[in-house]
Parts: sequence; structure tokens; C-alpha cells
Amino acid sequence: MTNKMWGGRFASGPSEIMEEINASIGFDRNLYAQDIRGSIAHANMLAKQGVISGDDAAAIIEGLTAIKDEIESGEFAFSRTLEDIHLNIEARLKERIGDAAGRLHTARSRNDQVATDFRLYMRDTVEHITAQIGGLQKALANQAERYAATVMPGFTHLQTAQPVTFGHHCLAYVEMLSRDRGRFEDARARFNESPLGAAALAGTSFPIDREATASALGFDRPIANSLDAVSSRDFVLEVLAASAICATHLSRLAEEIVIWCSAEFSFVRLSDKFTTGSSIMPQKRNPDAAELVRAKVGRIAGALNALMIVMKGLPLAYSKDMQEDKEQTFDALNTLSLMLAAMTGMIEDLDVNAEKMRLAASRGYSTATDLADWLVRALNMPFRDAHHVTGAIVKAAETRGITLDALELAEMQKIEPRINAEVFSVLSVENSVASRRSFGGTAPENVIAETRKWLKRLEPDS
Ligand code: ARG
Repeated sequence: MTNKMWGGRFASGPSEIMEEINASIGFDRNLYAQDIRGSIAHANMLAKQGVISGDDAAAIIEGLTAIKDEIESGEFAFSRTLEDIHLNIEARLKERIGDAAGRLHTARSRNDQVATDFRLYMRDTVEHITAQIGGLQKALANQAERYAATVMPGFTHLQTAQPVTFGHHCLAYVEMLSRDRGRFEDARARFNESPLGAAALAGTSFPIDREATASALGFDRPIANSLDAVSSRDFVLEVLAASAICATHLSRLAEEIVIWCSAEFSFVRLSDKFTTGSSIMPQKRNPDAAELVRAKVGRIAGALNALMIVMKGLPLAYSKDMQEDKEQTFDALNTLSLMLAAMTGMIEDLDVNAEKMRLAASRGYSTATDLADWLVRALNMPFRDAHHVTGAIVKAAETRGITLDALELAEMQKIEPRINAEVFSVLSVENSVASRRSFGGTAPENVIAETRKWLKRLEPDS
């Protein structure tokens, strides 16, 4: 059988293989709601411009609305022979309303149709994802408020560096996520333009009103150039890039959770909801959700990479290559949404072991910098000399296997005679974090002020 939508000049139907490689209905059925929205806006505009009759437009719109119900109730029979969502819906419209269905595609092509559908889909998805990011930021800010003064080791090279507060650590992710959100919002501001009416590539001779369809569909304006309208997929690339960066951030937090849950660290405990047991080792509570969030960034970065390669070197205007823009994009965005949901759940339920964190922070000579800073302040020593003296004191403590604040004054004075008992005031981890009041520093009072600011800013998201 030849394709009943465009088969006029073809003698025989496509081979099985051709049909399989050509069909996109398996994944672009995801676009059904956007496709129907776009078609209704187009039909209304055609009638208003006198291109089709009001009766035909009314029949088309009624038919499309009924088809939407059919799809949503699972009654709709998708057909691979009909290639894609656009032809599936149009063929069904013909079955339902007869010849008027054939007028819907006036002054339009699948090229501007699919570009319109996909932009609408992106807009819906980006709105959902930014709201989810807001939810995760809120969960982190709530933990930051709870643990504003909880001391933990801060690391560089995953070696204990200086004490920080857990609240400060949480807020670092709140900041990263806010830039992620900004990237999605920036992309949306650029891509919210309407391709509809660009037709196949050159525009149309019918007296259409692209402003009208753009505004009916909530776009800010029609895309200015018809070739650009049907050929550009940088809007998908931008969203995938924003997704890949966001997923990268989530994977870092996931990795930290995995580390923190280990018996060696025991900084946090994940709730039972987000852990699994081992089939052989009864003692295990595995942080699978965190591990999977850590891993799934691969699919998203992969989708970005795949589409860059699809688009590279494509001549204008539409080429079928561009049908490859959808499948992995759907997967990437669904994956990101799942990662955000899982991470939000893990953070909300996170059980923090403040005692373990504090203990770890006091090991590893984490207040050595505080000692050096004290030598600079109290003895007016140049920082480089203070660094040297501190190194010798750390070595003395290390040799005896004790922490800095446990080393006697006399021992320190052997290295630098001018050191006095006041030095002990900076050697505790609490005093260390409390002293870091510089803008953006980890002091609990900073963390509390920042947390309040964030919780207020995030209020509209709840
Ligand atoms: N299924 C196609 C896609 O996703 C729709 C556009 C087809 N256009 C065409 N001229 N064959 O790209």
C-alpha cells in the first residue's frame, strides 16, 4: 500500500526496512498535545483570514479535540505506516470529519509543524524542570537552616582542609542550582518564538497571520526568517546543554552523599525510602538512588553530544536527519526530571550525624590555617613565615598523634617562643568557622542570613 497521505506519485509502498527507519511515531507521539494545540491555532487563524471556511475550521477543531480524548483514553490506534504523530492525527481527523480535514494543512508543512510542536514541548518541560529545581533548592535551604552551625570538614583534594558548616555546604548547591535554573530560563526566553507559518521553508502565498498564531500559542513573536524557523535546533541543544550541566551538579552532590553514607564517614544516613539491601550481605544499606543520580548524567550528556553530531554540517533547510532530535531529548529530559525528584527526596529525608561530622572536622589539622592566621594577627608575622611555623607545629602534633588543640603550649613555644595561651581560642573547629565572617564565608551567622534570603526568594516555588 502506498502512503495515503503523500503516496500520489509512488507506485508501491515502502519496504519494511524503509518504514522502520522512517517512522518516528514510536517516540513523537509524545508531542500529541502540542501538535493538536498548534493545529487548532492554525485552523482558527486560517478561518479568520478567510483561507478556509468557519464551518470547516469548527469541524476541524471539534475533531482534533475528540482525537485528543481518544489518545488520552488509550483508544487511539497509532500506525507506523503513517510515520509520525502529524500524519497519524491528520489521517484520523479525515476518518472523523471527512474532506474538511484536508484543508488543515493549507499554508503549513510538517517542517514548521514539528518545529512548533517541539518548541511548545520544550516550553512545557522547561517550566516543569525549573519548578523541580526550585523544589530541590528549597529542600537544601531547609537543611542549611537546620544545620547552619553544624561543623564538618571542608575538603580540597578530598583531604581535610578547613572546617566548614554543613549549612554552608548545602547552600553551595543552592547557588549552583540557581544558575542551572537561569540557564533554562535564558534558553526559554530565546526559543519562545513561533515557527508556524514558515511552511516548508520559504513561507507561503496564503494571506496568513503569523502574529496571531504566535500569540494564540503563547509565543513572544513569530520567528523572523522562514528558513531559520524550520532548520534550527539550537533551542534543543541549549536545553540539553543546560540539562547536562544541571545533571553534572546533581552527580556531584550524589557522589558526596555516597561518600558521606559510607561506614568510614557516616556523616549522613539516607532514609529507607532511598536505600536498598544486598541480596547476599545482610548488613548492607546501599545508596542506590544516589549512585544512579551520579550515573544518569551520562545519558544526558550523551543526548547533547548526539544532537550536536546530528546537526553538524546540515545544509539548510529541513533534512530528515532532524527527526533524530527527539528520542534522546525526551529521554534526557525525563531522566533529569527523575534525578531532580530523587535528589529532592534524598535531601528532604537526610539524617545528619552532627557528632561524626564534628569529630572528622577536628581531625586532619583542619585549624592549621587558623593557627597561621593567628600568628599573623597576634605576632605580626608575615603569612609565609607563619605558614612555616604552623607546619612545624602540625608536625609536632602529628608525631605525638594528637590534635592541634591538644598540644601543650610549651611544645608550641619550642617552635615559636612568642606564642601564648590565647592561641587556643582559634584552634577549636567552632571558633574556626565562627571567625570566617568574610562575605561568602562559612560562619554560621552568614549561613543563617543567606538561608533566610534564599527561603524568601524560593517562597513562590512552594
Ligand atoms: N517526523 C518528522 C520529524 O520529526 C516531521 C517532519 C517531516 N518533514 C518532512 N518533510 N518529511 O522531523
